[in-house]
Amino acid sequence: MKRLIAGNWKMNLGPAEASLLVQRLDKAIKIPKVEVVLCPPFVDLYPIRHEIDRKKFKLGAQNLHPADSGAFTGEVSGPMLKGLVDYVIVGHSERRAMGETDKLVSEKVAAAVRNGLTPILCVGEDLQDRHANLTNKVVTDQLEAALQHLTADEVGEIVVAYEPVWAIGVGTPATPDQIQPVITKIRKTIEELYGEAATADLRVLYGASVKPDFVGTIMSLDGVDGLLVGGSSLNYAEFAEIVDRASA
Ligand code: PGA
Repeated sequence: MKRLIAGNWKMNLGPAEASLLVQRLDKAIKIPKVEVVLCPPFVDLYPIRHEIDRKKFKLGAQNLHPADSGAFTGEVSGPMLKGLVDYVIVGHSERRAMGETDKLVSEKVAAAVRNGLTPILCVGEDLQDRHANLTNKVVTDQLEAALQHLTADEVGEIVVAYEPVWAIGVGTPATPDQIQPVITKIRKTIEELYGEAATADLRVLYGASVKPDFVGTIMSLDGVDGLLVGGSSLNYAEFAEIVDRASA
């Protein structure tokens, strides 16, 4: 099972800028020992698809609609993404903050799997939850809800990203003491719900304020199989350094 480093570009860079970043990443990253997934905005996916070295990079989308087609103005569906990306981020806290419910997240996870895409399911508590000692409850509730339409085999192939909401975009990640128990809890919850086999190939990532300096420490935590990188994925030198350190 390869470690996975995913870059979530969020709502940044149009096609021309995206192309430039891909060229710089291509120069800075030699054939990586980890799987590297770039998640640009939808409009960049098609042009970038033809520019990336597929031995180095895979693509992911940042969202999808739960339905396969229909009268949903402005939305993008699983069948449209099929063949264009391998991964799709689902349930990012920035989307949950816009009103995406656990139910909707579960339908999007199902839509991704139905269309042969690997969901990168984001779960994580906000500061209020953490202060109220509700971290484990929030994360397990989000997991249980999001995975409800999947079989054990399907669960075993998804990616879960633990993203403490309060640490996103602030420049300092959660500490190992804060990360480790939640990663363990995520694996244990999935094992209890879907059996041991479901966790054998399951990859669990950490995300929130990942910078090169923290990579070694976070990647050495038990059960952490990779990173979901936001801000630093827009800086080719930093992202290349993160990939490099994660390969060590
Ligand atoms: P950040 O974002 O690395 O900028 O904190 C992470 C994320 O939101 O996935």
